Amino acid sequence: MIAIGSDHGGFALKQEIMAHLKKRGLEYKDFGTYSEESCDYPVYGKAVAKAVAAGECERGIIICGTGIGISITANKVPGVRAALCGDCFSAKATREHNDANILALGARVTGPGLALMIVDTFLDTPFSGDERHVRRISMIEDGQ
Ligand code: RB5
Repeated sequence: MIAIGSDHGGFALKQEIMAHLKKRGLEYKDFGTYSEESCDYPVYGKAVAKAVAAGECERGIIICGTGIGISITANKVPGVRAALCGDCFSAKATREHNDANILALGARVTGPGLALMIVDTFLDTPFSGDERHVRRISMIEDGQ
């Protein structure tokens, strides 16, 4: 199950991504927002992050205008590794190296065609499992 959420700035791109996930036969849960009315991105960033951190959803996709505010928000939730990606190289690398569990996109930065390629790359790339990456990820959360 993929958790997905956006603010008003990411609403239109969220609709495109959900249609794409449906076409791929992938299940998702939409945490809002549900219209283009102005709203606060932390509400939706936190909702998706908590669902992923709790194990209710394996991966998350969050979208705001820049992708910045909503990724900052999500990364405050322990266990979340949200990666703001504007290219496929970063989407692949953050899965392989960081085991990122949430993809953040900036709808005012990244066009829908590229965004869908980034989504596919993020969802289809496994974590490498290399010892050095496991060690570095554990260092993120060790409080040191
Ligand atoms: C909303 O206008 C905008 O600030 C928001 O979508 C996002 O870009 C914040 O980081």
